[in-house]
Amino acid sequence: MTDQKRVIVLLGKPGAGKGTQGAALSKAFGWAHISTGDLLREEMLRDTADGVKLRGIMERGQLVSAEIVVPILCRKIEATEASGVILDGFPRNLAQAELLAQNGVVVTDVLYFDVEDDEVISRLSGRWIHKPSGRVYHEVNNPPKVSGIDDVTGEQLVKRSDDSRDVIAKRLDVYRSETQPLLSYYEGLKGVQLHQLDVSHKAISVIQESVLSIFQR
Ligand code: AP5
Repeated sequence: MTDQKRVIVLLGKPGAGKGTQGAALSKAFGWAHISTGDLLREEMLRDTADGVKLRGIMERGQLVSAEIVVPILCRKIEATEASGVILDGFPRNLAQAELLAQNGVVVTDVLYFDVEDDEVISRLSGRWIHKPSGRVYHEVNNPPKVSGIDDVTGEQLVKRSDDSRDVIAKRLDVYRSETQPLLSYYEGLKGVQLHQLDVSHKAISVIQESVLSIFQR
C-alpha cells in the first residue's frame, strides 16, 4: 500500500508537539500530514450515532477502537499522492501498529518526542486551535497575530474539549499504559529508523531545526 513512500510515525505524549512539528515537516518536504485526532474530530462533528459515540470517548481521554480508526486512516493514506506520509497520533498501541503492518503500511521512521509531564500541562492548558484546518497556537509560546483569531482565515480560535486538567491527566495515563510500549516495539523492528529528541523546555523553532535536519541528511 505504501510502496516506496516514506512513512514517518510521530510518537510522544499529548502535547509533545506532534501536530506542531508534523505541520512543519509537511510544509518543508511536501509530505502528507495525517492526524488521526483531527480525522476523528471531523467525524465527531457529524451528527450521526458514530459521531456521538466518538464525542463521549474522546472527551473522556480514552482511545477510540481500532475498528473505527484503522479504516479511516487507511482510506486517507491510500488517497495521498505525496512521496511521504506523516502519521500523527497513530499507532496508539501495539494492536494498531500490527494492524497497520497487516494493511501493507511499512513504517520507515519513528520520531519520538520526549517531554516532561509538567510541560505537557502548561502547553495544553494554553493551546488554541483553528478547527477547520487543525492549525495549532499557544497563548504564550506560539500566539496568533491577533488574540483568539486564526492568522490565515481571520476566523475564531477555540479550545479543545479534552484540554481540561482532569482529561489531560487521563490522556497521560492512557499514553503510559498503551502508547509508551511502542517505543521498544519500534526499537526492535528491523528496517525502522528511530529518532529521539528531548523537547522539554526548548523553543518550537529550535526543535523544528532538529526535526528538519534529521530528514535533510
Ligand atoms: P490527538 O489529537 O492525537 O491528541 P494527542 O496525542 O493527545 O496530542 P495532542 O494533539 O494533544 O498534542 P500534540 O503532540 O499534537 O501537540 P501540539 O503540537 O498540538 O488525539 C486526541 C484524542 O483522539 C485521543 O485522546 C483519542 O481519544 C483519539 N485518538 C486519536 N488518535 C487515535 C488513535 N490512533 N486510536 C484511538 N484513538 C485516537 O502542541 C500542544 C501545544 O503546545 C500547542 O499549543 C503548541 O503551540 C504548544 N507547543 C508545541 N511545541 C512547543 C514547544 N516546544 N514549546 C512550547 N510550546 C509548544
